[in-house]
Amino acid sequence: MGTFVLVLWSMITIPSYAIGSIAHWRYGVLLDAGSSSSKLKVYKWPQRSSTSEVLKLELILNEKFRPSISKYVENGQLDQLPSYLAKMVNRAKTLVPSNLHKKSPIFLMATAGLRVLSTQHARSLMEAARSFLANKSNNPFEYSPQGVRIISGEEEGVYAWISTNYLMNYFGSNKAPSQAYGILEMGGGSTQIVFLPDGPLLANMFRVRIAGAIYSLYAHSYLFYGQDLMTLRINRYLYDQDQNVKEIVNPCMLIGDNSTYTDEDTAVTVIVRGGGNPSLCLTLLEYFLQSADKDMCYPKPCAIGQTYQPPVGTDIFYAISAFYYAPNALKVLGNSKRLRIEYLNETAHTYCRKNLSQAVIDNDVSPQYASGYCMMGLYIPTLITSAYGFPKNTTKIYIADKIGNQAVDWAMGAMLYEIESIDNSVFINTCPEVSRSSEHRSRTVIVIISIFITNILVTR
Ligand SMILES: *[C@@H]1O[C@H](CO)[C@@H](O)[C@H](O)[C@H]1NC(C)=O
Ligand SMILES: *[C@@H]1O[C@H](CO)[C@@H](O)[C@H](O)[C@H]1NC(C)=O
Ligand SMILES: *[C@@H]1O[C@H](CO)[C@@H](O)[C@H](O)[C@H]1NC(C)=O
Ligand SMILES: *[C@@H]1O[C@H](CO)[C@@H](O)[C@H](O)[C@H]1NC(C)=O
Ligand SMILES: *[C@@H]1O[C@H](CO)[C@@H](O)[C@H](O)[C@H]1NC(C)=O
Repeated sequence: MGTFVLVLWSMITIPSYAIGSIAHWRYGVLLDAGSSSSKLKVYKWPQRSSTSEVLKLELILNEKFRPSISKYVENGQLDQLPSYLAKMVNRAKTLVPSNLHKKSPIFLMATAGLRVLSTQHARSLMEAARSFLANKSNNPFEYSPQGVRIISGEEEGVYAWISTNYLMNYFGSNKAPSQAYGILEMGGGSTQIVFLPDGPLLANMFRVRIAGAIYSLYAHSYLFYGQDLMTLRINRYLYDQDQNVKEIVNPCMLIGDNSTYTDEDTAVTVIVRGGGNPSLCLTLLEYFLQSADKDMCYPKPCAIGQTYQPPVGTDIFYAISAFYYAPNALKVLGNSKRLRIEYLNETAHTYCRKNLSQAVIDNDVSPQYASGYCMMGLYIPTLITSAYGFPKNTTKIYIADKIGNQAVDWAMGAMLYEIESIDNSVFINTCPEVSRSSEHRSRTVIVIISIFITNILVTR
């Protein structure tokens, strides 16, 4: 009897793909079109027997192609885009078994740099990419027009949230929603915050369905608050104080460093010199990060300006991408990779007062990035506390560039999200909404069912 139950149990719980001979692999191709290059990513995963199982996604290729696709439209060379895309498609063809080409989806998702292209440029670029990929003699993979698009900052953040929680094995773990990991992400252009809030979510809701559960996330992206565009805004602000100057002094840059600033309106280029003044830099950053007066902030509470953001609560957050470089270079992260906000702030204050050559020697950093670590070392603590509302002594934020040995990026999450939506349109099933109250209810039901089954087995 015991053996019989065991065999029966194995038949129920071991998914069919785990049985070697009938393993059934699927493949997907993602062209991640970034602002400086494109990355070709090819994934494979075993077919699931139901959409409530967690996918086991494996990245089998991650290859960089230069330049970025935006260069083709900026230089008026859209006619050369097909041969650039063909290189990537042909490379992907070598990794996916040819009998599976037409069943394997292909996506082209563009981010940051492409979000700031003019509407006309963005449209002609997407049309050129679509018409190339739609043609079967160019692209054997499964193509759909909506699979080729510029993704929003919110989508990028949500996909990073999916990647992180996937790599942390949150999905399918039956852990409470309060144990999901929030995400702080930053690129050159924008910064994103995404999490599963504690209380009611009044706006900016983004729903995702993963492994049979629906998550109602808060997601917001601040365009022009990324690392590079924040530097640009500081320079613009300084230039606007007096447009007759030939030179401006940027307090967030190290003494001895210099760069240039070209104003969009006047087309004038001025020299920017480092001022190495952390308190003045902080004053400028706080100016950009202030929240709206209380009678202008609805719904409350507000993060930056009039942007609604529910409280971050007690969730653990991962701060990724450009949140990583400065804390890493300034050596404020211990082995735990936990972010100590006040420590980063103090360290950055000291660092920012060094001149460029001294900073390069003391901190063993590249001169090209040295000033950026000053700006970011001051920006990160201010953004996290005054805008996002974390307490200064929070112990809930970890800085990560990798989880395990996998890079944390939005691309893996985007692929998971797309496969989920393909699979959900194939399998028709209903799934419970995950919120703090219903989660409790469904767990209770599972516990009751388990007790019931245990009783049956025991009484026999
Ligand atoms: C598809 O591409 C091939 C080769 O690049 C070309 O000869 C053909 O005209 C294209 N078909 C369409 C419908 O554009
Ligand atoms: C800027 O810095 C570089 C390298 O430190 C130096 O060679 C150059 O003369 C500087 N330019 C100006 C305008 O000060
Ligand atoms: C950073 O340090 C400055 C100067 O000591 C202080 O005014 C500011 O409040 C600190 N910010 C954070 C987030 O700790
Ligand atoms: C940079 O700072 C160090 C230490 O304060 C000093 O010895 C050096 O002369 C400075 N270098 C320049 C180029 O100002
Ligand atoms: C952070 O500071 C607050 C008030 O200053 C205090 O109540 C809280 O216990 C501190 N939290 C941690 C984790 O140290």
